[in-house]
This record gives sequence, C-alpha cells and structure tokens, in this order.
Amino acid sequence: MTMVEPGASPVQEATQHLTPTPADRFSFGLWTIGWTASDPFGVATRPALDVAEAVERLAELGAYGLTFHDDDLFAFGSSDAERRRMIERLRSALAATGMTVPMVTTNLFSQPVFKDGGFTSNDRRVRRFALRKVLRNLDLAAELGAETFVLWGGREGSEYDSAKDVQAAFERYREALDLLCQYVIDQKIDIRFAIEPKPNEPRGDILLPTVGHALAFIDTLAHPEMVGVNPEVGHEQMAGLNFVHGISQALYSGKLFHIDLNGQQGIKFDQDLVFGHGDLANAFALVDLLEHGGVDGGPAYTGPRHFDYKPSRTEDIDGVWASAAANMRMYLLLKERAKAFRADPAVAEALATAKVGELRTPTLGPGETYANLLADRSAYEDFDADSYFGAQGFGFVTLNQLALEHLMGAR
Ligand code: GCO
Ligand code: MN
Ligand code: MN
Repeated sequence: MTMVEPGASPVQEATQHLTPTPADRFSFGLWTIGWTASDPFGVATRPALDVAEAVERLAELGAYGLTFHDDDLFAFGSSDAERRRMIERLRSALAATGMTVPMVTTNLFSQPVFKDGGFTSNDRRVRRFALRKVLRNLDLAAELGAETFVLWGGREGSEYDSAKDVQAAFERYREALDLLCQYVIDQKIDIRFAIEPKPNEPRGDILLPTVGHALAFIDTLAHPEMVGVNPEVGHEQMAGLNFVHGISQALYSGKLFHIDLNGQQGIKFDQDLVFGHGDLANAFALVDLLEHGGVDGGPAYTGPRHFDYKPSRTEDIDGVWASAAANMRMYLLLKERAKAFRADPAVAEALATAKVGELRTPTLGPGETYANLLADRSAYEDFDADSYFGAQGFGFVTLNQLALEHLMGAR
C-alpha cells in the first residue's frame, strides 16, 4: 500500500488507494493501446503508436508492465538490424521508466502462412516455421526477463469437420509444447508457458476452447508443471461460461499463471471492452477471488493484472489513454468494494447462514472410511431428508443482495 503524501488533502487521502501504482502489478498488451482500430468492416481510425510512447504513457498512468507479440514490436519479416533497433528502443524506454516486460507472446495468426494455424497447421512446413518463430521469440522473452510466455492459438482450429483431424492436431500441439519446454529446460530459461483458451474467432472453432479443455490437455504433456493457463474474461463469457468458476478451477489446479482482464456483454463476438464494462457483478466476484482467495482462504492470485482490451474504434488518442486508465480504476474500485464486502458483519452472518464456509469441512471425519459411513445410521437411516421441504433454506439471495449493495456502494 502506498503512503499518503505529507500535506495531502482529505480528498486526496480518500482517493489515493484508487491511484494505480507499480505495486498493483497492472500490465497492458502493446496490441491493446496500440490498436489502430481497423476491423473487418472498416479501416483504421487512429495512427500507429510508438512503443516508447506506449511505455512512457503507461508508466505515467501507474502501470508496471508492457507485454507484446513479436510482430507488435517489429513487423513480420523485419531484417535482423530492424528487429534489434526496435528491441533497443523498447529497452531504453523500459530503463528510463522502470517499466517491465512480465509476459511475451508470439503472433501465429496474422500472416497468410498461418491461415490454417501454426502448431497444428495441416502443412508440416508451416508447423516447423511456427516453432522456429516461437523459439526465436523465447530467446527475446528471456533477454527481457519475462516470467510468462503466453500461447494463444487463435488460428489453431477449423471451420469444416472433414478438414481437420482433431486428434492428430492435439498430437502436434503436444509435440510443439514438449519441444518448447525442453528448449527452456536446456537453455536454463526461467519462464513458464500459459495457454490462452478461446472458443471461436478467428477460427469457426478453436482447439482448447475453454479453461477446462486447456487444463485437460496440459495433463498430457511431458512437462505439465511448466504449463498453465492465461484465461481471458471475454473468452469464457463468449461460451456462456462463468469466468469466476473457470478461474477457481485454474487456481484449484495450481495453473493460474497469468490472466487477461477485459469486459464482454454475453455470447457474441470478442468485444474486448474495458474491464468491468461487461458483466460487472461477475467482475466484482472475480476481483474478490483474486484479491482474497476463496471465501475461507483458497489460494489468491499474485501474478500481473493484465488487461487485454481494445480502446473502442470511436475513441481518439486521448480516449485511448482514458480507457487504459479506466481499466485500472475499475479494478481498484472493485477491490475497494470487495474489501468492504468482506469486512461487513452482516455479510459474515449471511455467509454463515448460507453455510459457505462449511464446504471447507471434509465430508468424512478424520480417518473415516466408507465402512464407517455405511455404519453411521445418522447419515442415512435416521437422517431426516424430509425436513428440507419448505425449511432449511440457504439464504443465498440475501447474501447476493448484500454483495450487489456493496458493489453499488449502497453499504
Ligand atoms: C484475442 C486474444 C489475443 C491474445 C494475444 C496474446 O482474442 O485476440 O485475446 O489478444 O490474448 O494474442 O496471446
Ligand atoms: Mn480476446
Ligand atoms: Mn487475450
């Protein structure tokens, strides 16, 4: 927590916790604030953003990190000299501001060569090229001290069931991940991989569409301990899923290596709105989970709070920076509201009535076996299941009302 500056006014003191600082670990993709807003229906509405300006502006706003795809920093096909010139440009901006690069990722989706994917293209030569592109970028990630390497396979998928042998695609996906892990081990690079699930867009169907699919795939790898997930709010919500459930399962599995925060309004195209500008109640529960862990002390998330949003096409350059600031402010506001929710005695009472904490109590006693359970008449023969008819409600609605009142600042 930051200390209040001497001489700060009461208003400044009251709002200082809403001012982002590097301790909050907020980071942004270069492709987010740098998006020039061209979409499938229209040309760009904003000029390109220089990487040094991106780093400086984000530092001023209180972020601590910038992330990027190789192709965001130097155009695909750049000469070695041009590539190095852009890396040095980034490095000097980082040195001048104290900003970091916590995560790096590789673009295996924009260029024509990746039209059928990278690691799982039907064309073997493309798969070999994709691996080389990622290996080269891994060296850069290591050079910049990134701790996480994200793999978003937006083109790994299909439109036509007859055109993709999906089981073979998973074999090739695994082959790619196993090779990358072996490279990291051999080169003694201190980095972990995070797979980013998405159900569709740009492919009709993308492989590893949800957090659950990715977790199951990771278990098939040679080095599962080196690979986790990078879930994105909007991606799970595009599939109609509860993001907080997905994040909870990732935490349960020890696999929440990174996170992409943004906003999404239901099941439609990937909107990439500002965090909290979509399902606000779910965003509140998410921040509560990330900050406080489970209700009764499940693991909390300690990694970067990374925003993968798009400043809307309607915004000018000032609007870009206002929207970047809005992401961080929304997070901090939700953090403040979650803290108040946790501290409210009425909430503690409602949680107790709802038996939320009781779920942490093992169903069997210490050392108890199924034989003891079968012998326990109170568990079955003498148990009054009928007493639940019209009675013994859980009061979940009261609890949720309290949560929403805290979210609205009404308590
Ligand atoms: C998307 C994805 C990407 C990835 C990025 C980093 O829907 O376009 O969210 O923005 O996060 O490629 O891997
Ligand atoms: Mn996305
Ligand atoms: Mn993303």
